[in-house]
Amino acid sequence: MMKMVKELVYWWMCLGVLCCVVIDGTVVTDCGSVARVDRVDIEGCIIPPCVVTRPDIQDVNITFTPDYQVESFSSVLDAYFGDAHYPWPGPGGCDLLTEGGSCPLLAGHTYHFHSIMPVLSIYPELSVVVTWFLEDENNKPLVCIRFPVIIL
Ligand SMILES: *[C@@H]1O[C@H](CO)[C@@H](O)[C@H](O)[C@H]1NC(C)=O
Repeated sequence: MMKMVKELVYWWMCLGVLCCVVIDGTVVTDCGSVARVDRVDIEGCIIPPCVVTRPDIQDVNITFTPDYQVESFSSVLDAYFGDAHYPWPGPGGCDLLTEGGSCPLLAGHTYHFHSIMPVLSIYPELSVVVTWFLEDENNKPLVCIRFPVIIL
């Protein structure tokens, strides 16, 4: 009986965590961001894999807070289809800051980055793991997030 109660409490706690992660945007893997990643929103996708049909574009919003001054940054996208590696057009950097943000980025300030992820028709119909970097002027990953996408 006690064991069952414990299990129930355990599952209840898991659900609680899941609920709060969900409320906080899209669940992505952090792959070594040096800035604090406050929130990621991928259009129509809360718990990846994100399912997209080709050709399409998907809104990607990243809210982040660097802890040092950044002169400029740019997006780099990577896609792995199994072992094969495809370049993915990387859309912009400083120019895509919203809510009045601009470069240089100041330490401890929070910035909103709004971009689109193009899903080209040449991409194979497959599962792919996308890695999205926002790299500073020294190629350090301010943001590195990773999420699976299913292309239909
Ligand atoms: C991303 O941000 C833009 C501009 O702030 C907003 O219009 C859009 O709805 C956001 N998209 C998502 C998926 O949160």
